[in-house]
Amino acid sequence: MNNYKIAVLKGDGIGPEIVDEAIKVLDAVASKEGFNLEYNEYLIGGSAIDVFDNPCPDETIKGCLNSDAVLFGSIGGPKWDNLPKEKRPETGLLKLRKSLGLFANIRPAIIFDELVNASTLKPEVIKGVDLEVVRELTGGIYFGEPREKTDDVAFNTMIYTREEIERIAEVAFEEAMKRRKKVTSVDKANVLEVSELWREVVEEVHKRYPLVELEHMYVDNAAMQLIRNPKQFDVILTGNIFGDILSDEASMIVGSIGLLPSASIGGKVGLFEPIHGSAPDIAGQGIANPIATILSAAMMLDYLNESSGAERIRKAIKEVLAEGYRTKDIASFDAKEVVTTEEMGSLIAEHASK
Ligand code: IPM
Ligand code: MN
Repeated sequence: MNNYKIAVLKGDGIGPEIVDEAIKVLDAVASKEGFNLEYNEYLIGGSAIDVFDNPCPDETIKGCLNSDAVLFGSIGGPKWDNLPKEKRPETGLLKLRKSLGLFANIRPAIIFDELVNASTLKPEVIKGVDLEVVRELTGGIYFGEPREKTDDVAFNTMIYTREEIERIAEVAFEEAMKRRKKVTSVDKANVLEVSELWREVVEEVHKRYPLVELEHMYVDNAAMQLIRNPKQFDVILTGNIFGDILSDEASMIVGSIGLLPSASIGGKVGLFEPIHGSAPDIAGQGIANPIATILSAAMMLDYLNESSGAERIRKAIKEVLAEGYRTKDIASFDAKEVVTTEEMGSLIAEHASK
């Protein structure tokens, strides 16, 4: 029987609640599909600061590197907001991504037909949306040096090397080959030198993928096009900060930020996390939507080559939504019953073990 070591980083806020539901579903799938998951928990973010005075302790990094995959919840909260930058929970997540070499962040936004009424956008605009943001995750302005803040001036550096652009572009073209074979590369080449290089290198990589259609789009236009006509997109290839912003926007097309999963890959071990944050305002109330994390767990099974288990999860979610069960964030007029985080997890687990 295949056995997989999973590093579990629940984090802060709603992190523990949603990860628990994902584990419930994973266990249901594992016993059905005949593989075994062995979980080891490590601290990250605020909860790691409380214990180790460090938002990303070495033990956590080592634990991840010793695993087959990492399942991640969310980090941050008001309790740690006033700490100096190097102690902030967010800095811990960035350090983890960098230490694990996770340069590619894949964020699919796929609309469930059952949820077309949960979005603030018109059903005819969003029905059938199936796009994927491929976000560069360990470079750009998030990590660029020099960076500094004094009382009177502050600056960051948006920097990309040819090599960094090449490898993320390859991921995007490979993804497109598995999908509808279109890449929209998003930049700000009319203003930024870093985007000029981005374009040139993406063009070069494109030569190796003649079957894929490539278009370039300025980020401001892309933000507008995503709302105007999201169905035009297949794979959106972009840098760290543009990808951060556009993926939050994409989540609203689908209905709720509580629905978007992500896979961070490129290093020795993949990390799977919902795109949303720790939502401290609703933590502990049992109203968080666990679906983004459960879908992230499905992406994790794909990564572990347990695709039949991954499909089982996606089918279970669809069935539960079709039956009319909704967490509060997606409870539109056509919801049959509004359920808690835990109830949603249990319903999906039950369906996944059918
Ligand atoms: C995300 C988050 C993080 C990011 C924060 C928490 C550092 O917003 O994963 O999208 O900006 O990458
Ligand atoms: Mn974000």
